[in-house]
Amino acid sequence: MEILERKNAELLALFEVSKVLSSSFELKANLFQAMKLLSDYLDMRRGTITLLDPKTGELRIEVAYGLTEEQISKGRYKIGEGIVGRVVEYGSPVVVPDIGKEPLFLNRTGARIEKDKISFLCVPIRFKEEILGVLSVDRIFDESISFEEDLRVLEIVATLIAQALKLYRTFFEEKAKREELEKELKDRYQFQNIIYTSSVMKDIIKTAIKIAPTRATVLLRGESGTGKELLAKAIHFSSTRGNNAFVAINCAAIPETLLEAELFGFEKGSFTGAYTSKKGKFEIADGGTLFLDEIGDLSLTLQGKLLRALQEQSFERLGGTKNIKVDVRIIAATHRNLEEMVKRGEFREDLYWRLNVVPLFIPPLRERKEDIPLLADYFLKKYNLLYGKSLKFKPEAVETLLNYTFPGNVRELENIVERVVLLSDGEWIEAKDLPLTLDNKTKDIQNLVTSSLSKNRYNLKKHLEALEREEILQVLKDCNYNQSKAAKLLGLSRRQLSYRMQKYLKDIF
Ligand SMILES: Nc1ncnc2c1ncn2[C@@H]1O[C@H](COP(=O)(O)OP(=O)(O)O)[C@@H](O)[C@H]1O
Ligand SMILES: [Mg+2]
Repeated sequence: MEILERKNAELLALFEVSKVLSSSFELKANLFQAMKLLSDYLDMRRGTITLLDPKTGELRIEVAYGLTEEQISKGRYKIGEGIVGRVVEYGSPVVVPDIGKEPLFLNRTGARIEKDKISFLCVPIRFKEEILGVLSVDRIFDESISFEEDLRVLEIVATLIAQALKLYRTFFEEKAKREELEKELKDRYQFQNIIYTSSVMKDIIKTAIKIAPTRATVLLRGESGTGKELLAKAIHFSSTRGNNAFVAINCAAIPETLLEAELFGFEKGSFTGAYTSKKGKFEIADGGTLFLDEIGDLSLTLQGKLLRALQEQSFERLGGTKNIKVDVRIIAATHRNLEEMVKRGEFREDLYWRLNVVPLFIPPLRERKEDIPLLADYFLKKYNLLYGKSLKFKPEAVETLLNYTFPGNVRELENIVERVVLLSDGEWIEAKDLPLTLDNKTKDIQNLVTSSLSKNRYNLKKHLEALEREEILQVLKDCNYNQSKAAKLLGLSRRQLSYRMQKYLKDIF
């Protein structure tokens, strides 16, 4: 009968311990409860959990039931030291039937003054091959209970503790990793990572910083690669919404039917293939920012649906009836001329005004050349670091960049710098190393020049004309086709240049 009762108590204790260990992430409190349960159910006094710090190799009491704070603070050992230290060293349990007779028992905590009657049981806390610490209990010496029996229970408890510890540590390691990533993301998209010196950009950033903390809708305009998305992220991450999601969706990249489902989500069965229900971007962005990229590519139907959602701050999922309310800040972007589109009836005027609360126009890079050297340097540092190089620009390379038109804007400049860093082995980047893709106009001109020069090789007048023509073209190109500037550089009046362009370049201009 007694044995049966004891068995029941053991089972109950194990059940309660496993429940308490998985109840929350309050590790210390849970471990303490577990020790208390052992004491209550199994009449074990003083339970301690000693954990191994893998970095220092030190063992320290993490939790103890039946010891004072002061006694706990003294509970420190090294691997191999005392009984606790040996259990860690050998990875196997130790039983001391009578601690009064055991010289290895250090009694470092000073807790045991009634030494004679106490047995001490100690088992490793092990996860797979790794020893995490030691579970030990004191028990009043009682001949009717075998130590094997107690050890068996303790080993099960130690396994439960090991799993809880592992879970807890993984959880917090991952949490720390996640937080670090989030911080990195935030750092990367701060305003200080937007590089500029031109006064147009200064004005844009000034406005952007001012409106960032508000909920105002922002409409970013500018050619592809000018930094619209970068600016949208900086606005998001510097607002209080920065702790919530930044959700981007490219309206030009997704077919219309899918786009609606992507934006508003859908209920199970709302269309063929909708086997589950799914949140849309509006719901995911709740509390954060929704970046609607290439808004000018939205179909008229979807423009209407978007407008309704924006006006009402709510919507229904596809195939759903429940009205879903969200708190979302909208930042839209486009390279298209929305005003023209409104005139042609391709973009809803009401939506245009709804989005156009804070319009920010980012000019193409060729219209803010002051930013080019700064950006080139910034990307050079970035890719030098990434590819372990220490390249520098020769002044004429920077000059070449300054004269280039960058149809792909900052994105193209970044690609150019990355490629040149990747491909160059020397110390200097020269103009000829720059992998500039000639824009079409420049390419046509280049071809015309070479062909006319070689064709007229043996006719002095024609050859000189071809040379003059080449010179004018080159200078025009260098001045980004600014004719007044080119005229000045060529030492011609504006009218003389005009005349020569008529004569030589009718086919191009
Ligand atoms: N002023 C800037 N400073 C630093 N990087 C920039 C700047 N403008 C653009 N970039 C970079 O150029 C690339 C293209 O920018 P992005 O924001 O995607 O342009 P868009 O959305 O206008 O097409 C990105 O890698 C971005 O980080
Ligand atoms: Mg973009």
